[in-house]
Amino acid sequence: MLDTEVRELMQSFVLSDYQVQEVYSRFYAEISKGLKRSTNAQATTKCFPTYVQDLPTGDEIGKYLALDLGGTNFRVLLVSLKGHHDARVEFQTYAVPKDLMIGPGVDLFDHIAECLAKFVAKHDMKNAYLPLGFTFSFPCVQKGLKEAVLSRWTKGFKCPGVAGEDVGRLLHEAIQRRGDVEIAVVAILNDTTGTLMSCAHRNADCRVGIIVGTGCNACYVEHVDQVDLLDHEFKREKKQVIVNCEWGAFGEGGQLDFVRTEYDVTIDNKSINPAQQLFEKMTSGMYLGELVRLVLIRGLQKKAIFKLNPRREEFATILEENENIFETRHISEIESDTFPEFANTRRICKQLFGLEKANVEDCQKLKYVCECVSKRAATLVAIGASGLVNKTFDRKVVVGMDGSVYRYHPKFDEYIRETMHKLVKPDKTFDIMLSEDGSGRGAALVAAVASKTK
Ligand code: BGC
Repeated sequence: MLDTEVRELMQSFVLSDYQVQEVYSRFYAEISKGLKRSTNAQATTKCFPTYVQDLPTGDEIGKYLALDLGGTNFRVLLVSLKGHHDARVEFQTYAVPKDLMIGPGVDLFDHIAECLAKFVAKHDMKNAYLPLGFTFSFPCVQKGLKEAVLSRWTKGFKCPGVAGEDVGRLLHEAIQRRGDVEIAVVAILNDTTGTLMSCAHRNADCRVGIIVGTGCNACYVEHVDQVDLLDHEFKREKKQVIVNCEWGAFGEGGQLDFVRTEYDVTIDNKSINPAQQLFEKMTSGMYLGELVRLVLIRGLQKKAIFKLNPRREEFATILEENENIFETRHISEIESDTFPEFANTRRICKQLFGLEKANVEDCQKLKYVCECVSKRAATLVAIGASGLVNKTFDRKVVVGMDGSVYRYHPKFDEYIRETMHKLVKPDKTFDIMLSEDGSGRGAALVAAVASKTK
């Protein structure tokens, strides 16, 4: 049995039904605001039209290159679409050194171009002139499929000289500077769009794409009449367009203040983008581990955890002095543990504190802390997902999902479904599917449908 101290410690993370309902209403209102030209400027969720208006049929064929920037790693991919809903993806992962994440934008794009050139050379494709889809997972105002102006950096990136610029042009220029590869950038897309497309490739009912990884965001298929920001010429022939909600920014207008905890405030204050991406800071992999670290420090001070351990204060100091020492993947590992072995939890306690065989009660408490933090994240994601499912015109909606948190957490999917069952309208049915490499396959599919349209 968990004692009251630890329950009290976590109380502020447990959302009541009223709070869930209230966040839902505020979120739904915010999306409606984002879609309207007259209110978009005040909306936190910018609802950018992506100019992707065709979903894949599954028959797409051809070879495409893709770039994937926006998570912890940068990837170059070669995607072969084979028809019959099938695709083959080969890729190479390259680290993005910390100094490139915050250094001049030119250096970042030169690095991207260099990795691309190496990949092309290695695969003997110098003269293949393959079309390329660029999955660039940051908020962008798109002017068309090939033009995407970065509105701001998120997720630990902050390269000067890129916000306000067309990232397609920056990539093109970096490739030109090298002069050793010829590549046609045919589409720039968000990772949520890639996720939606790659799921739609397999399942024709997919209408929503969600990422819960380093960052958190969603897109969905909207009727063109609802999307004020889309120019008329794009409304004549096609009746739908994918909208990139950029829901990570939700809460910047104070909408989440009534549920944010002191720990959320601390996370935000010490981040490189204070007052921005508040929903993201409560839901995504970049921050969940840090939230747990902060809660544990408080729990140790209050003797709510490791109560009987003589080294309690020392543990608190270790956590205080080492930012990011508690990683988001630790949450997934701890929540995967079973009573009474707690194998992962004990290994993590050993790693962090040099503690041999943490006792069962403390393991249970640690697990509870992790559960509260991840369950709140999943509930918030589910609120957004339900809002988008309810907004679509279709009765049956499949939600495509990806990202390290969703993929590796043992119960995230279960937590999300639990809340969605409460919020999705009774006349609708929904399902969630795991995306297969949305940033690669999805980029190829956007490139493929783009060339079909031409
Ligand atoms: C970005 C989104 C992206 C999400 C998931 C957020 O920080 O603003 O564009 O889709 O992370 O990668």
